[in-house]
Amino acid sequence: MTDDLANDILTDLVRSAWIVERSRASIYEAWTEHDSRFGASAERALKRASIIERSIESRNRTPDDSFIEPHAGWIGNLVGARPDEVAFGELFMIRLADWVDGHAGPFLDDGVDEIAAINEEEKSFVPFPESIPEAPPFVPLETIELEPPGEVRFTFGILADTHIGSPRAEAMTRAAVADLNASGAEMVVQLGDITNHGNEREFIRAAEVLSELEMPYLTTMGNHDVYSYRKEALIGRRLYEKYFGRAPDGLLHEHKGIRFAVLDSAEDLASPFPPFNLVTGTFMEGKGGAVVRGVLSTPQHEILADIAAPGSPPAFVFLHHPPQPFHGFPPILFGLRDTDSGRLHAVCDSGNVWGIFAGHTHRNTITTRFGDVPAVEVAIPRDFPFGYALVDVTDEGYSYRWVQLSNKELCAEGHKTVSEIHHRYGLGQPEERAFVWRKSG
Ligand SMILES: [Fe+2]
Ligand SMILES: [Fe+2]
Repeated sequence: MTDDLANDILTDLVRSAWIVERSRASIYEAWTEHDSRFGASAERALKRASIIERSIESRNRTPDDSFIEPHAGWIGNLVGARPDEVAFGELFMIRLADWVDGHAGPFLDDGVDEIAAINEEEKSFVPFPESIPEAPPFVPLETIELEPPGEVRFTFGILADTHIGSPRAEAMTRAAVADLNASGAEMVVQLGDITNHGNEREFIRAAEVLSELEMPYLTTMGNHDVYSYRKEALIGRRLYEKYFGRAPDGLLHEHKGIRFAVLDSAEDLASPFPPFNLVTGTFMEGKGGAVVRGVLSTPQHEILADIAAPGSPPAFVFLHHPPQPFHGFPPILFGLRDTDSGRLHAVCDSGNVWGIFAGHTHRNTITTRFGDVPAVEVAIPRDFPFGYALVDVTDEGYSYRWVQLSNKELCAEGHKTVSEIHHRYGLGQPEERAFVWRKSG
């Protein structure tokens, strides 16, 4: 299993597992106030973390303490401040532990049986629900409109992961394309995971759907585009070049004096794991696609050097993977590799970058800020809250807004399978769905 897997990925995997366990312990501790039985749950999670910590140290890393609070904050937002606040909240906590056991377990130096036994003990106290609660009612999402900082020079659209080939994806993407065509956007950037399984048929369909955009558009590669499930092979780079007309090593585009650095952060490496289902806590059938983390190749570092050069025009950066510190799930591992994130940070320090936009997570949030430059995760058409983003660019900066698809029937249909946890995951705070950015000085 480990033969072709980079050692740094395994280290990130173990680091990630430790953060998950320490964060679970924090949540359980907070729940203890409402139900004392969670004191023992917190102790179990801490014990699991201490076992995992041994494998971090043997990899000459120190545990990432700074991740615990924000990651626990993220989990807490999903599962609630009280154990009975969110349907399936307690079960979700167990599934996080299952993820740790399934992914990090095989790569621990020791203690794999012990962490599994502790997880089983925890499960013996969990009341597993007998029925699935009703989805929350669908309520259309109002777009938050903010005044752009000056006269609008042009508007561009951001279409995050399209996952063509998965249920509802094509209809939702077509709806987004129709909305973008009517939005006045002069160009559109798509953020990767164009296809769902990296199959050639999906590339063909995706290219057809995206060609319905009536303005120029740029695409990027995501981890779902790298590996063809059908062919069981890493042929995505070749298929991308065939259907999207360029080698996926980044692209620098200019529109009305603003640069668009479009990076292809998907790593050309097969995952050793089948896909993991967080609902059931088990691995799914079949191959695992590509590794989930992001990396930037040398030509893309050259693009970054170009946009950081003194006197260069303002630039937006687009890529599939959010940069570090990444606090979604799983932490660290799901984001852009540390070294590339650090480089992106340094490029933002040049003062030439106005914003970073990432896909991959299917949610609205601001991952981090490099100085005053936000790294924004953009939610997708297929999943709640079903939409895309628009950016109004002025001489002074821009205003960003997330927009739900205007086809509310399609949204309501898609919403039938949306759980409360999904809701809490995807929506984001109002200030993450709409904000105004002004250049300093
Ligand atoms: Fe995706
Ligand atoms: Fe992705």
